[in-house]
Amino acid sequence: MATPQAREEALLTVRKVTLRFGGLTSLSEVDLSLYRGEIRSVIGPNGAGKTSLFNCLTGVYTPQEGTIEFITADGTPTQLVSGPPRRRRSRKPHVVNRAGIARTFQNIRLFAALSAFENVKIAAETRQRTGPIGAMLRLPHARANERRSDARTRELLDFVGLRQVADELASSLPYGVQRRLEIARALATDPALLLLDEPAAGTNPTEKRQLEGLIRRINTDLGVTVLLIEHDMKLVMSVADRVTVLNFGRVIAEGRPEEVQRDPVVVEAYLGSTEEKP
Ligand SMILES: Nc1ncnc2c1ncn2[C@@H]1O[C@H](COP(=O)(O)OP(=O)(O)OP(=O)(O)O)[C@@H](O)[C@H]1O
Ligand SMILES: [Mg+2]
Repeated sequence: MATPQAREEALLTVRKVTLRFGGLTSLSEVDLSLYRGEIRSVIGPNGAGKTSLFNCLTGVYTPQEGTIEFITADGTPTQLVSGPPRRRRSRKPHVVNRAGIARTFQNIRLFAALSAFENVKIAAETRQRTGPIGAMLRLPHARANERRSDARTRELLDFVGLRQVADELASSLPYGVQRRLEIARALATDPALLLLDEPAAGTNPTEKRQLEGLIRRINTDLGVTVLLIEHDMKLVMSVADRVTVLNFGRVIAEGRPEEVQRDPVVVEAYLGSTEEKP
């Protein structure tokens, strides 16, 4: 039996997940085993179901069929979808986040009217236990929690290289910087698994290189497992340990980046689309 230290310990296991919107099947019997400590990329043409998969993992959508199991920090297997067939429920997004899964969005979702610092601090505070009354009365434990959140926020802004823009409004920051800020915010909830939905979209070559380094450091320095949706094949090929390919909601290939890139089934899927070739 595998020990918890085993290299290939599953952190997330998706089995036969099917998601339908009326007559449209956006995910079809998707299987995915994600190992603790890996960087996995999910690629596929537009509309392949990549974001839908993230939405099933984070409680935004409830798939009609299949199971999703996540191992929480204390080692407990947790079912993220449960209930009898007609009353299936996904765990709510904030519950999934507390369990140890954080995400960024394909379309950036920052609090535009708050500073970079405040955007991260709000997320850091969800890790503290001060209730609204404690916070209002500024009880000693509330002040201690606030100091911890401030320190964690500064640490994370440093980590993503954004300390110098801490006081700027999120909406005033360049696009690539906003993407990194969103990553800092996700990290502030101390996830074991980070889901990144096209973090390189709209970024310039310098920002892409910074992002590449950042994803590696998140993985090695923070020990966070990463699931990365990305169309930029150069980035995928350089950071991913393994790649899973979706096409029309189905997994059509999985393997090391160089294997997947050569796979005729994958090449065919991309030739039939307008996407960059893998
Ligand atoms: N809320 C929804 N209602 C209806 N259809 C949806 C919904 N969300 C996703 N879909 C459909 O599911 C399919 C998969 O979409 P999804 O956004 O998961 O693709 P994707 O792989 O992320 O594509 P892209 O690379 O363009 O982001 C598409 O046909 C999409 O129109
Ligand atoms: Mg998408």
